[in-house]
Amino acid sequence: MRLRNKPFSEQVAIVTGGGTGIGRALTKALAHAGMKVVIASRREPVLLKTADEINAAVQGERVFPCPFDIREHEQIEGLVSFTIRRCRSIDVLINNSGLAVPETVEKITEEGWDQVMDTNLRGIMQLVRAILSHMIKNDFGDIVNVSSQAGKHGYADVPSYCASKFGLLGYAEALRDHIRKTGANIRVFNFCPGLVDVESVGAEAAPRPGLIHVENMARTLMYALSLDRDVVLEDISLYAR
Ligand SMILES: NC(=O)c1ccc[n+]([C@@H]2O[C@H](COP(=O)([O-])OP(=O)(O)OC[C@H]3O[C@@H](n4cnc5c(N)ncnc54)[C@H](OP(=O)(O)O)[C@@H]3O)[C@@H](O)[C@H]2O)c1
Repeated sequence: MRLRNKPFSEQVAIVTGGGTGIGRALTKALAHAGMKVVIASRREPVLLKTADEINAAVQGERVFPCPFDIREHEQIEGLVSFTIRRCRSIDVLINNSGLAVPETVEKITEEGWDQVMDTNLRGIMQLVRAILSHMIKNDFGDIVNVSSQAGKHGYADVPSYCASKFGLLGYAEALRDHIRKTGANIRVFNFCPGLVDVESVGAEAAPRPGLIHVENMARTLMYALSLDRDVVLEDISLYAR
């Protein structure tokens, strides 16, 4: 028996960090495919600008800004209730928000650790916990984590960033195992990109040497989501050759 599928035009996505960089490119692709997309991060003016630009391009209201800080538990609950109230479903969760701080193994501060681990790992686990019951109830969902090449290899100039991105991949494996046990129609994907050019973003722009054009992330996302529901492209590594 084939697992239930839903056309993109009936799906609702949340993209954390959807106002800028990779998240913006993923949001644009989802909205162009017909999805409603809630974009969520701390800077409201950035979210509003991105939503306005993409909505103008798709000639409809498909992108909805929702300011939130992933480190704040009640703001996570606020994002989930905003999305259900406004769009009535949560089908795709893209855990894209993330940051690195200047650090070395010896010079990292407690504050730096907290910022990196709370944003890149703890906040994501809280957000998944808040959303998973909706996906299980609807027996439909995709959870997409933006880890990094630094989630597979260690680099001396970003040790806690590496720890958070390695940790995210470990969490994703445990999440997959949990979901498998529930039998729910939910897939978990991880992106592990090398350097992505989030400045030269025009369709014709050439990425800087050693970086990939951000559109490749968007195209890969749409490909991964379009596979049969019983197929998971588990770990997606994209590097400039
Ligand atoms: N670009 C690369 O080369 C590359 C390579 C591998 C992996 N990645 C990963 O890709 C993801 C996106 O990065 P990017 O390159 O597109 O950089 P970016 O434009 O700086 O995106 C990071 C996003 O995270 C949001 N964010 C940061 N702290 C947050 C918080 N506390 N709560 C909610 N949102 C928060 C930021 O928005 P606000 O400031 O408005 O909160 C921003 O939109 C990150 O997870 C990054 O680690 C990037």
